[in-house]
Amino acid sequence: MTSHRLMKMASLLLVGISTLALEATASEPTVVPQQPAFPAEGKITYVPRDSIAEFKALPEYKEPAWVTEKYVKTGKLPPVAERLPKEPMVFKTGNMPDGVGVYGDTLRHVIGGRPEGWNYSAGQSQGWGGIDIGMSECLTRTAPLFQVEAKDVEPLPNLAKSWDWSSDGHKLTMHLVEGAKWSDGDLFDADDVMFYWEDNVLDPSVTPLNGATPETFGAGTTLKKIDQYTVEWTFKEAFPRQHLYAMAYGTFCPGPSHILKAKHPKYAGTTYDQYKNAFPPEYMNIPVMGAWVPVAYRPDDIIVLRRNPYYWKVDEAGNQLPYINELHYKLSTWADRDVQAIAGSADLSNLEQPENFVESLKRAAQDTAPARLAFGPRLIGYNLHMNFSANGWGEPDERAQAVRELNRNEDFRKAVTMAVDRKKLGEALVKGPFTAIYPGGLSSGTSFYDRESTVYYPFDLDGAKALLEKAGLKDTDGNGFVNFADGKAGGKDVEIVLLIDNSYATDRNLAEGLIGQMEKLGLRVVLNSLDGKQRDATNYAGKFDWMVHRNAAEYASVVQNTPQLAAAGPRTSWHHRAPEGGQLDLMPFEQELVDIINKFIATNDNAERANLMKQYQKVATTNLDTVGLTEYPGALIINKRFANVPTGAPIFMFNWAEDTIMRERLFVPADKQGDFELFAEQLPGKPGEKSLSN
Ligand code: GLA
Repeated sequence: MTSHRLMKMASLLLVGISTLALEATASEPTVVPQQPAFPAEGKITYVPRDSIAEFKALPEYKEPAWVTEKYVKTGKLPPVAERLPKEPMVFKTGNMPDGVGVYGDTLRHVIGGRPEGWNYSAGQSQGWGGIDIGMSECLTRTAPLFQVEAKDVEPLPNLAKSWDWSSDGHKLTMHLVEGAKWSDGDLFDADDVMFYWEDNVLDPSVTPLNGATPETFGAGTTLKKIDQYTVEWTFKEAFPRQHLYAMAYGTFCPGPSHILKAKHPKYAGTTYDQYKNAFPPEYMNIPVMGAWVPVAYRPDDIIVLRRNPYYWKVDEAGNQLPYINELHYKLSTWADRDVQAIAGSADLSNLEQPENFVESLKRAAQDTAPARLAFGPRLIGYNLHMNFSANGWGEPDERAQAVRELNRNEDFRKAVTMAVDRKKLGEALVKGPFTAIYPGGLSSGTSFYDRESTVYYPFDLDGAKALLEKAGLKDTDGNGFVNFADGKAGGKDVEIVLLIDNSYATDRNLAEGLIGQMEKLGLRVVLNSLDGKQRDATNYAGKFDWMVHRNAAEYASVVQNTPQLAAAGPRTSWHHRAPEGGQLDLMPFEQELVDIINKFIATNDNAERANLMKQYQKVATTNLDTVGLTEYPGALIINKRFANVPTGAPIFMFNWAEDTIMRERLFVPADKQGDFELFAEQLPGKPGEKSLSN
């Protein structure tokens, strides 16, 4: 966005103009109101899929001069050509907004999360904010697809440099990049892929971060090693191209088997707990396939990552990537990420908490602003998820079981959604044309969105109260809250426990707004407010009645994490999973959603896919699979010294911006480079050692 347009936006905001549509008050469901126009969206230049990168050998390769001098000439590292695969991935200059870059400088991030450890394969979080994304590489890659022409959209090759389908479409042979190495020099090959699959995804005692399960890749899918650089998938369906999305971040990013195996119960006689926790945050130099390796950590202060000397991607001039030598992750809060990026003391933020929009816009509109700010489509959304399991997921007590039964009652869900004043919820976050009425289901920013198929129950408190009564709930003791009926839970007040992630102000504000609105309906809702990691664990364990949740990629892209759009497997849905060893007790509309999703995954016909998603949206919003709360655009904030930032990159679509902007290609022109490197001219040390190599 130009600073002129930014100024205009900022002044619009200051005079408080809101273009939100007027709401109807009838209690009949309608099509969702038209969204307020949002003028500030960055323009994307669409390109063919094959214009981004290719795999090929180049006549010569280069690296930062200090690497040659200090490491190669002294024999500490082999020459760059020997560290690269036979055919590295080559980013095409034509797709790089500012072309071939130069080496140097630091990309300074701030995060609100904290590292649990480095064992991503066993489910440990590194604190988010793109830290694991920078360390991981996956079989395919999808984040950059935001700029690929619609007719061409299919995941990009990555660790799998190419693939072919058998003529009947049941087998997919993947060719891995040959001779790529982990950051400690160990060869990457099919054994790493098979270890991830067999001993992490398929092992019921291990759940990788981001929750890959066998069903993520389709029921009955198998994978086998053919030779060192070839693996073969077998699917029950023919040509399920959709699974290529599951092979991208975050569900198929193999870890270093040569390091992890030594701690895995199957190979080392350890316990699963020991495996998960074998690589605590203090463990440095964990081998990665990503562009940067963690080399220093100070609790509640910082994580520093340095360039991976074996990184397997280059530019067309043969320069080994990344251009940026160092990454910083300051361990602070998510709100502080916005503040610091806007102030210039950090370099990048996904502006996703509307509470910070106005201040950020005002500052970014000034000519002296250190950072650029650009909005994308309305892809950040929040849903209320009700726990639909009535057969034991999370071992509910009597009260919780009675709530589950209410959650499964259509009149109850309608009462809840009609008691939500979405205009008010949105405006409590930020005034202006940002937030929109979001009834639930697919996000309005995806190409699969169809407004006509989006059913909305308008705000109508009286209508909502009548429906609550229809669901059998009355305030029998006159204290303003309805009581459980039919002798359930001792006829006490209905009390609903609402799970949230308290590391985001937006989650807290939405939850508090919702609690107030539910009180008016006569429902007592109490907060279970946990930090991100505990929230996730509590969610996966099924220990919640309701949950306010920021939408994940399935709602924003549809094609990424598709199985998560319904309870397609025992452990795929956010709000309906099977109890340990048990079955899913799906309601008929949920079964319909599962069938639609399965058909969507099985077909490659674009018209049929679009049609199926219309059906999905209709069934999901009519039956209130989730209760939408609000939806708004996010903005990418990035320091002005960085070059090669693609225009219009959404902060969230197939993945977060940290992947979308392809950080390995970002660079800082020589005359703009800052002096932020803490470990200048040093490279990662040996796995587990505290020191760097120098
Ligand atoms: C967190 C942040 C997002 C993004 C992701 C990346 O969820 O809130 O903006 O940085 O981490 O994983």
